[in-house]
Formats: sequence, structure tokens, C-alpha cells
Amino acid sequence: MGGIILRAEPESTFADVPTPAAVSSAWKAALTPSDTTPGFIDLHLHVLPGLDDGARDLDASVAMLRGLEALGYRRLVSTPHADDRKHTFGRDRIETVATELRDAARAAGVGLEIDFGAEYAYGPRFHADLEARCLITLARSRYVLLELPEAFMPATMPSVLFEVGTSGYYPILAHPERCTPFHDDLQKLETLAAGRALIQVSMRSLAGTFGRTIKRTAWALVEGGLADLVATDCHHPNELKKIVGPVLDELKERLPRRRLDQLMSTTPADLLASG
Ligand SMILES: [Fe+2]
Repeated sequence: MGGIILRAEPESTFADVPTPAAVSSAWKAALTPSDTTPGFIDLHLHVLPGLDDGARDLDASVAMLRGLEALGYRRLVSTPHADDRKHTFGRDRIETVATELRDAARAAGVGLEIDFGAEYAYGPRFHADLEARCLITLARSRYVLLELPEAFMPATMPSVLFEVGTSGYYPILAHPERCTPFHDDLQKLETLAAGRALIQVSMRSLAGTFGRTIKRTAWALVEGGLADLVATDCHHPNELKKIVGPVLDELKERLPRRRLDQLMSTTPADLLASG
């Protein structure tokens, strides 16, 4: 995460860069709700075998696929970590493993559509790929998954998100509920993201994996309307029964059906269809 370097920067005021109007209107167009529910689409999980701290081997991957299909998912965009330390592999390696998983899924009779992207840690690798215009986006769309620093929000963050937008990409913030500066002040996140990024909440946060404060923040984002997406961020087959299934049941109880569909079906579908 590059925490030492980031802590040397002044803290963000969350509003010091204006929203680019072009990006803002493009998002609105992309998010026009569809009328049909296409089944759940997961835009953040670690199902590709052996690449990161997710599925260890093909058996674990296929077990995850079977479980997600049984819960109502029909399309996945697997997002292995991308950073400067442990996860330095590039698009070609991810694509090769995704093809192996697609073949294994087909052989196992799993009907899920499997795409890939990456979950970028905020740091030098992200900046280098942005500058070189070679960010690994979600299923070759313009949307890129970005994990923000958790303990401290650099003052440059609004400018960085602005730059991502004006470079032709659209950032999706992965589980911002885990970022301490947003706890007890969701307005900061709303101000930072407005017109610059989409907000994706993780089921692991909703389940309480990271403690009560993050759980409360995650539910506030989902129920208060700020969240644009809910993703599983699933790493292991045992999370299906422990996390994804129970959280899905709770979401169905606590949210109107249309809101659930927006978060898990129609918005992801619209994003991927928008190119
Ligand atoms: Fe993740």
C-alpha cells in the first residue's frame, strides 16, 4: 500500500479539485437503470487460481464458481491484486490463468461467464500503468478497480481521481468503507467520489469480517444510497456459506428489490456494456 510514503503527504480536504463535467455526464449515461434483471454480476473477487491470496488451485476456483452460480450469479470479473511488491504480474499472465479457469469451468459444467480485471493498490504501479495508459480494466471496459489507502487519505487523491477520469478511465473504489477517514463522516467519501469515482462495498465488510465500525459504515453506504455496487471480494470457497450466502439473505431482507438489483445486477451490467 506504500503507507510510509503516503503518510508523508498532507491529508486530503476531499474537495480541492473540481469535478470534470464530461466525466460526470458520461457516468450518468452509463448508470441509466435497465429494466431487466440479468442475474448477479460480481465485479470484485479473487477466483483465479494461484495468482494472489485468493483461490489456491483450480479445485478451489471451481468450488467458488459452483457456489456463486448456485447463489444466482451469472457473470464474474475476477480481480487479482496488482501492486509493486507481491503481485507484479501483468495482463498476459492474468489472461492466461483466466483462460485456464474458463476451460476448467466448462469441463465442470459451470455456466458462469468469466472475465478478468485487477484490483490496483494505490501506489507506484497504479501510477505507472495510468501514465502508460495500460491499466488492467474490468473486462476490457473503461472501469478500473482501485483500493485506496486505509489509514490516511493523501491530499493528492482528488487530483489523482480527476486524472484517471480525464485519461479515459473510470475508477471504482474498492471497499472504501475500510478507510478510516470515512468512518463517522460519509460526507468525505461522497465529496471525494462525486463525479470522479463509483463506490463499491464489499460483502466481507457487510458480514463484519473487519469489525463493527467497518460493518456499520458498509451498511450505511448500502442503505443510505451512496454505494453504487456490492461485490463479494470472495477469496476462498468457505466464504460462500460463511459470508456471501448470509449477506445476500440480509441484503434481500433489508433492501427494496430494485435497489438490490441496481447494486448487484443492473449497474454492473450497464458498466460492462458501456465499454
Ligand atoms: Fe479484493
